[in-house]
Amino acid sequence: MEVRLQKLIAGTGIASRRKAEQLIAAGRVTVNGKVVTELGTKVDPGRDHVKVDGKHLTAAQPFVYLMLNKPKHVMSTLNDPGGRPTVKDFLRGVSVRVFPVGRLDFDSEGLMLLTNNGDLAQALLHPRYHVPKTYLIKVKGILTDEEIGQLERGVRLEDGLTSPAQVKKVSKAEANSWLEVTIREGRKHQVKRMLESVGHPVIRLTRVKMGSLVLGRLEPGEFRFLTDREANALRELVEERVDMVERGEPLPARRRKPVRREGWARPKKAKVA
Ligand code: URA
Repeated sequence: MEVRLQKLIAGTGIASRRKAEQLIAAGRVTVNGKVVTELGTKVDPGRDHVKVDGKHLTAAQPFVYLMLNKPKHVMSTLNDPGGRPTVKDFLRGVSVRVFPVGRLDFDSEGLMLLTNNGDLAQALLHPRYHVPKTYLIKVKGILTDEEIGQLERGVRLEDGLTSPAQVKKVSKAEANSWLEVTIREGRKHQVKRMLESVGHPVIRLTRVKMGSLVLGRLEPGEFRFLTDREANALRELVEERVDMVERGEPLPARRRKPVRREGWARPKKAKVA
């Protein structure tokens, strides 16, 4: 069956659909030995020999992406010399070697991406590309708008000033509050240290978003493979940022200015009990 050339290339996982189109337009793709720059070109994967930068498409390693909802008290690594449970214990039936993209603390929960696409993993983690990560947190006490403003502008930690963050009030109770904090760096224990610095220790922390990925309804300990659409969106987000940095263009806005703040919602509206 014939498919569009860019769809075939993107399907192998070596590039997003958009990047595949760029590769074709740049003359880096051949079909049966001839350079093809026409985007709508149809090919038959069973019959036609497609090469990207001189390499056979069939030799390309298929990339695998999955997300796990890491439970509390599990290491976010693949093994632990101390014998504690690790994310690997939850990947039953996954035969491809995948690696966790970044860390979550032992007592943190939530979205962990695992993949064998090393370039994508590196770009997602590199602070240069400002890929946002969002955490739903429960903290001691109730933050004032001034404290939220400090977190948004940046707070001084022992390893330097943090970049601007986004902080959304979720709900408050008598002695605790829930917030959604989005950061674009990935320093060790960063969210906990940021909140500690404004006097509100974190009691619970769940990563709910990473770039375009959303944890959604995955239960703690469950994993699933990303859909093609999700994997493609993630690759596109990263490729776009890498291209922008290479062209010296500024990345999507990071605010230092105060924003108009909504009030707190009622406690029952908290997303995690
Ligand atoms: N920030 C933290 O403090 N801990 C995590 O696990 C993730 C982000």
